Amino acid sequence: MDKSIEKFYIETFGCQMNEFDSERIGYLLETCGYLRTNDLNSAKIILINTCSVREKADNKLYGHLGNLKSLKINNPDILICVGGCTAQSLKEKIIKEFPYIDIVFGTKNIKNLPDLIKKRRQTNKSICETEILKNYDSEIFNFKRTFKFKAYLPITIGCNNYCSYCIVPQVRGEEMSMPINLIIKKVENLISEGVCEITLLGQNVNSYGKDLKSPENFAKLLDNLSKIKGLKRIRFVTSHPKDFSKKIISVIKQNSNIMRHIHLPLQAGSNKILKLMNRKYTREDYMNLYHSIKSELPDCSITTDIIVGFPGENEEDFCRTLDLVKNLRFDRAFTFIYSKRKGTVAEKIPDNVTLNIKKQWFKELVELQNLISLEQNKKMVGLKFEVLVEGFSNKKDGQLKGRLENNTVVNFNGDKELIGKLVPVKIKDAKSFYLSGEL
Ligand code: SAH
Ligand code: SF4
Ligand code: F3S
Repeated sequence: MDKSIEKFYIETFGCQMNEFDSERIGYLLETCGYLRTNDLNSAKIILINTCSVREKADNKLYGHLGNLKSLKINNPDILICVGGCTAQSLKEKIIKEFPYIDIVFGTKNIKNLPDLIKKRRQTNKSICETEILKNYDSEIFNFKRTFKFKAYLPITIGCNNYCSYCIVPQVRGEEMSMPINLIIKKVENLISEGVCEITLLGQNVNSYGKDLKSPENFAKLLDNLSKIKGLKRIRFVTSHPKDFSKKIISVIKQNSNIMRHIHLPLQAGSNKILKLMNRKYTREDYMNLYHSIKSELPDCSITTDIIVGFPGENEEDFCRTLDLVKNLRFDRAFTFIYSKRKGTVAEKIPDNVTLNIKKQWFKELVELQNLISLEQNKKMVGLKFEVLVEGFSNKKDGQLKGRLENNTVVNFNGDKELIGKLVPVKIKDAKSFYLSGEL
């Protein structure tokens, strides 16, 4: 191999949107002649795609940057580049604190990364580019897929909801929808390249199209995409309860290639807290929506996100959340202890509950939900499902791992030739977070 080819290494934190952005970075750098590597030590360019949704995510980055310092001291030619949501929120402050960082680039500045790298090689000064651009980047759909058979596709970027706890609108900017024709064309393209599953991404996919010159809606987009020949599986995340229309439910019902899984973040079960969170729905709205989905789509799994210990939450509010979790029986819940984020409205709300109590609540909720998840998963034992084989299991050596229509992971014995294929699997055993099965 040509020794002069520079290799780059990307580490990705955070959500699927960041995973997609890393696929874009991969495409852009490879197009400019750089080569991707999974070996940090052989890389000349190290990129970290950061997440800042909770304080823990920020801390992870700081630990990581500390480790990279010695690498940079031993090999000053290496470029260390920090992008993503923490880069967007902290900007130059990252360079002030970690002067050995070469480039800080924002969530809307990915396109310029190759130029920034060239510029940094020519000057002796670290660079920070984090201006939030107002129009969408027409080249956003050029990316280098991690998987041959499945792809993420952002249909909206940014968010206008301003949930009071959340930093995302600050770091991702205003919500912007991709033109419907561009999405359809890209999906057709991906199918011709062998992709069989597409996951549509957005902070709130249901509000898709409101900002377009000729407004569109998510139900129509979903319906159009499901008619594309060869598209075997469509998924979408995340759905905001306030924008989830009955029309979306009927489109899912009419099209068997739209997967039976809806991630529908609840966040809290108390109306007082939902209001403080600026979620724009009540506990009752959520319950009604949940039951309409389940009555129209009985096989559809519903998963959720819940925040524990929001400022102003008391024991009674927390019990309202527990009560809803007990009643609705989510297939899975991602639970978080509230983390104060700079520049959000919730930052200013008085918070009287100690971290210890929050941790107790958190434990109680997690234990309850794990039990429910296990019971939900056990219902699938003995049944047969179509599974998309995604790769090797991280639980058991040599086993394959795949996803059911309802997004549950199953591990089973099989040949690696099956990766990327749809196969029938019979479920044999269930744990809280995954199943075991047999081809
Ligand atoms: N756009 C998506 C989620 C984005 S962030 C939505 O609206 O549902 C993913 C999850 O992180 C959120 O659903 C929320 O549960 C959690 N989260 C966001 N900000 C948080 C904070 N400051 N503290 C704790 N959890 C948070
Ligand atoms: Fe954050 Fe709310 Fe937007 Fe989700 S909908 S990204 S939680 S502001
Ligand atoms: Fe994190 Fe940014 Fe996603 S803050 S959750 S990586 S949009």
